[in-house]
Amino acid sequence: MKALLLCGGEGTRLRPFTHTQPKALLPLAHQPILFHILDTLAATTIREVVIIIGPNGKPIVELLRKTNPWGFDFTFVDQPKPLGLAHTVLLAREVLGNTPFLMYLGDNVLDEPLRPLVNRFVREKPDALLLLRRVKNPRHFGVARINGQNVVHVEEKPNEPQSNLALVGVYLFSPAIHQAVQVISPSPRGELEITDAIQQLIAEGKNVAYHLFSGWWKDTGTVTDLLATNQYLLKKLTSAVDGEVKKSTVKGVLRVAKGSTLKNCRVKGPVTIGAGCRISGATLGPYVAIGDGAEIVDSNISHSLVFTDAHVKGVTFTNSIIGERVRISGQQKTAPVRSLLVGADAILEL
Ligand code: TTP
Repeated sequence: MKALLLCGGEGTRLRPFTHTQPKALLPLAHQPILFHILDTLAATTIREVVIIIGPNGKPIVELLRKTNPWGFDFTFVDQPKPLGLAHTVLLAREVLGNTPFLMYLGDNVLDEPLRPLVNRFVREKPDALLLLRRVKNPRHFGVARINGQNVVHVEEKPNEPQSNLALVGVYLFSPAIHQAVQVISPSPRGELEITDAIQQLIAEGKNVAYHLFSGWWKDTGTVTDLLATNQYLLKKLTSAVDGEVKKSTVKGVLRVAKGSTLKNCRVKGPVTIGAGCRISGATLGPYVAIGDGAEIVDSNISHSLVFTDAHVKGVTFTNSIIGERVRISGQQKTAPVRSLLVGADAILEL
């Protein structure tokens, strides 16, 4: 069985960050989203991963050619335009061949082992096996109606949802999906919807099964969900200090990678700090992840992501994302800022 991992798309809701990086490479708890997903896939029997790459996806290829601790056999398929989830199945037709496959949306993070699901699919051989979860706001998702053991209807972001069961971004398909994606037409938003292809399977009388999932899951498509996922992943970390911590108070979990120094700081974990950072006079946490090479001076940061090589001086912020190589400086009396979103290379004086 292969995996089809979708890392195309424009990530418009995560601009400005997706102007300079594909969504799948945005770091959460000091690891790209993609790595969290590959960790989950590595715990299944799948060894071949086909990755859909969008126009800004070259860094994904470069990174995975250098880094592959999972030992996956990667194949990359270009998707020049984000024409929909079902479009990626059309594009990957040849590399997927006639084997069943697990399709995984490259911005979904879930805390659930997928091995039992894969094993069930291999054992029972339905035409599709969907992962469903009850949600409060089904209108924002693909929604499924079930009857007994089967899915009897699916619809993308319906105005009047027929249930509160959302489709989680993990699907298992038999090769029957290849015919289904050829039959459907683009939706009003101009995309070939995977929900339409699944509905096509249902209409043809194919066996579409489901697994009700109650574990933790987030689609990291928005800033709020990205920060919530970062918090969830940070909570799972354990302390490890490989850098230097001087004259600082630390409560809770702190991770400091090699070559980083913290001086005169107050830390309320969980906080993770990448390699080669210089941090002084800062109050950090809770829920802060700082990328490699960052410099933080006289600042107070909580519930935030600070990306690689950012420089932050004299500011207080929360629920924020600071892009790569950003330079922010503030006066001592600068008012605290909530939800500061600063794209790569920006220079900001507050
Ligand atoms: P979406 O979140 O639906 O789309 P997006 O990532 O482009 O984001 P936005 O809506 O903010 O513009 O996509 C879900 C996942 O599927 C995501 O990881 C990107 C991937 N994808 C593709 O690979 N190809 C596509 O054509 C689309 C639409 C998405």
